[in-house]
Amino acid sequence: MSESTFDRDFYVYDANHRFAPMYPLLARQIVEDLGVSQGLCLDVGTGSAAVIIELAKITPMAMVGLDAKPEVLELARENVARHGLPEQRFRFLEADVTAIPLESGSVDLLISRGSVPFWDDHVAAFAELYRVLAPGGAGMVGCGFSRYQTLEEVRAMRPKWTDDGEKDTRNNWKAEGYLPRVLAEAGIADAIVTMDAYGVWVTLRKA
Ligand SMILES: C[S@@+](CC[C@H](N)C(=O)[O-])C[C@H]1O[C@@H](n2cnc3c(N)ncnc32)[C@H](O)[C@@H]1O
Repeated sequence: MSESTFDRDFYVYDANHRFAPMYPLLARQIVEDLGVSQGLCLDVGTGSAAVIIELAKITPMAMVGLDAKPEVLELARENVARHGLPEQRFRFLEADVTAIPLESGSVDLLISRGSVPFWDDHVAAFAELYRVLAPGGAGMVGCGFSRYQTLEEVRAMRPKWTDDGEKDTRNNWKAEGYLPRVLAEAGIADAIVTMDAYGVWVTLRKA
């Protein structure tokens, strides 16, 4: 992974978090858009675990949060307790997206928000995500906010965290035609790429 800085505040998920109003709306959107709310949920690049904390409040799913940084996972565990959720519902894995320590076909709901710009090998990453997805499972992988927010809210929240355009390599994955090429190379036929004012998301489904 190539993310070098560690912004501790970003990983403490409480009412003061800069995206606090967004995560519950995104969780609801994920469940409603993908239609999956049972079984195992995997969050790749989980960070504070905010997304799976909110998913745990509205589904009975077992949660797995995966992140390459152990110091982040420590804060994620603290956040689960902060939100009054039972720790037994959460498992945290220190791993890279390209080597997920889970069985093939074991993940019913896959989510990854805000992690994809940091991945070094997008083809290997998407192939690995697709490997762990269960038949009948679905996922959302990308960067951005919830469609259940107003665009005004999104504009106010959107951080200026990269330089514009081609100057910053963390924008490369959003280039025209890049994701369809990556998905084809990863052998994934059943994917939809959405790019709009809310962000860039890949919706994955496995028949
Ligand atoms: C911007 S944070 C997003 C955190 C969280 N998903 C959210 O929406 O608030 C990106 C996270 O991806 C993790 N990450 C970056 N590269 C990774 C990789 N190759 N494999 C696994 N996790 C990675 C980072 O450690 C970081 O916690």
